[in-house]
Parts: sequence; structure tokens; C-alpha cells
Amino acid sequence: MKGPTPPIEWAENHIRIIDQTLLPTELQIIEVRTAASAVAAINRLAIRGAPALGAFGALALVVGLDESAPSNLQEAIQRLEELRTFVGDARPTAANLRWAVDRVIDHAVSSSKTLEDLRSALLREAHKVAEEDAAACQEIGRLGHELLRSATTIGTHCNAGRLATAGTGTALAPMYAKAEAGESLRVLASETRPLLQGARLTAWELADAGIDVTVLPDAAMASQVLSGQVDAYIVGADRIAANGDTANKVGTVSHALAAREADIPFYVAAPTSTIDLAVPSGDHIDIEQRDECEVHEIQGKRVTPEGVNATNPAFDVTPAHLITAIITEVGVLHAPFQKSIADAVVQAGTAR
Ligand code: MRU
Repeated sequence: MKGPTPPIEWAENHIRIIDQTLLPTELQIIEVRTAASAVAAINRLAIRGAPALGAFGALALVVGLDESAPSNLQEAIQRLEELRTFVGDARPTAANLRWAVDRVIDHAVSSSKTLEDLRSALLREAHKVAEEDAAACQEIGRLGHELLRSATTIGTHCNAGRLATAGTGTALAPMYAKAEAGESLRVLASETRPLLQGARLTAWELADAGIDVTVLPDAAMASQVLSGQVDAYIVGADRIAANGDTANKVGTVSHALAAREADIPFYVAAPTSTIDLAVPSGDHIDIEQRDECEVHEIQGKRVTPEGVNATNPAFDVTPAHLITAIITEVGVLHAPFQKSIADAVVQAGTAR
């Protein structure tokens, strides 16, 4: 049986991705054959979601290396050093992007003696990043499913599903597991202004899987939560600091505050590759600022008066004390997060 179209695919010498800016109206595949077009796709959110950016960025290194046609190993290594920042820093908040780029370059360079070795090692390690992410999603789905067994109506924000990872998703993986187990499930997806990842992407992929999904304006979620109509929240993460403070799509913190007020669980689901131990707390996380026009316009049509200002932070930080637990592939982490996170990273490093 044919499954859903994969959001990222390697096709011998180029990358094929779903252009997520066009969903749900159009399911269009684009081919990425240069480093510049890979970075452009990242910047305009044709490909997005922290773990998917890691998997894509890793493959973009191969495309970027081939494009420069180096004549020897030294030239190739020099090219990879350019790509490390050009691709790796294309979006600053999503930890997995630079993490995957560093991992793949460092592994390939340290294990290769010839140009041919280097290219094969890059591609092999890039595939490994994606395979490990798919396995992490599977385990997050299993662990999240156990935590959410008694929850029927579950809130989520942005898109942390199969479009955002190399597998079934982080926050959405437990939803797929619940649906597969035949449990009753209704997902409330907040629309996620300004780029509508909830309304366009979460709604599209869950509906495609036959899961009951209702889209709400971002501003409507808190009253649903406070009136007792939501059993639990689960969201993804772009970067998790050493103390558990979590950057995710802007608006996440307001959902966490509502959840705390209503005394319902607020779960963060993410692979350990999203954890950044070099960042001690949320106020050290670099929050990507995007173009004002995304706020001024809705799907290309200006909605604000000419001459007014707009500000467009792509992410916000949910303080650790508002998070019930962080669901990773190596286990469910609880407070004190400083310790549980440090232990999880060690465990994941050993498993890798
Ligand atoms: O700007 P985006 O669409 O890349 O933001 C994505 C999110 O905030 C996701 O929740 C996060 O990357 C986790 S994806 C599994």
C-alpha cells in the first residue's frame, strides 16, 4: 500500500521536498540541486520543523559539495566549512539544523582519506540522521501514547508531525499511535499565525490520516482550555536549554499558561538532538526574527494599514516550570530538568 508522500527524499544527486508553503492547496514536489536553493527553501519555509531541517540540511551538504566539483580532498573540506555556516545557520533557533550539519561534516571529514570516501561518508551519515530521527519519532510516539491514554481532546500548536520530521512527528506521533490503537481522539490545532502551520499543515496531515482535527483561531484556545474542554497539550520544540526552558513556535507559551491555569498537562515532545546543553536557559536562546511582511500580510494580501510597524519573532520560550514533562526517544523527562536532561543527553550519545 502506498503511504503518504515523504516530505524529504534523496534522489541520487538531488533532494526532493514537498513545498510546504503551498499546502494544503497544492501538493507540489520541488527539486533542490544547489546549496543556495536549499537555503532559500529553508528561509521561505518550504521545508521546516526542527528535525526535518536537520535531515534536510545534512543532505544539502552533499548537494553543495557536488555543485562545487572539488578536485581534491582539501578543496572539498574547505567547501564543507563554507557550507557549515551557510546551511547550518540558515535558521538560528532550530537546534537540529546546525547539530546535523556539524555531525555530518565532522564525521565525514574525520573518517575519510579520499574525495570519494568523503562524499560517501557525508551521504551515509546524512541518511543516518534521518533514520535515527524516524526511530526517535517512533519511540516518542510510544511513550507519549502511554502518557495520553486517558486524554481524548488534545491541543497542539504549529506543526510537529510528519511534515516537520523524518518520521511520524514529535508532538503528533502519540496522536498517530492513539489513532492506530483505535482510541477516541479529537485534536485541537491552533491556527498558528502568521504562517498558519496549524491551520494548513497539522490539519492537512491529520485529516489525511483520518484523525479528527478541529482548527481554532490562536486566540480561541485559552477559553476552550479554561472551560475544561481540553484534556492535555502536546507541542514540539525548536531548541531546549539545559534547564528545560523550551523555544517553540511563537504562541506556545500562551498555551502553556492556559494549561497551567486549568491544571492540565503540558507536554513537550522532542528528540534529544533538539537539546542544546550549551544554552543554560531560555533567555540565551537566539530567537529568529522574520520579515515584518509575514505579519502585515495574510497569504500575500496586506491587512495592516500602510505605515504601521510590525514585529515578527518566529518563536517564544516556555519556561521549564510550565512544562509537565519532556518526551524524548530515551525516556520521559521530569523536573528537575537540569539533571534529567543531562542524563538523557548522555544516554542518547551512548546509544548513537
Ligand atoms: O517555523 P517552523 O514552522 O519551522 O516552526 C516549527 C515549530 O515550531 C515546531 O513546533 C518545531 O520545529 C518542532 S517540529 C517537530
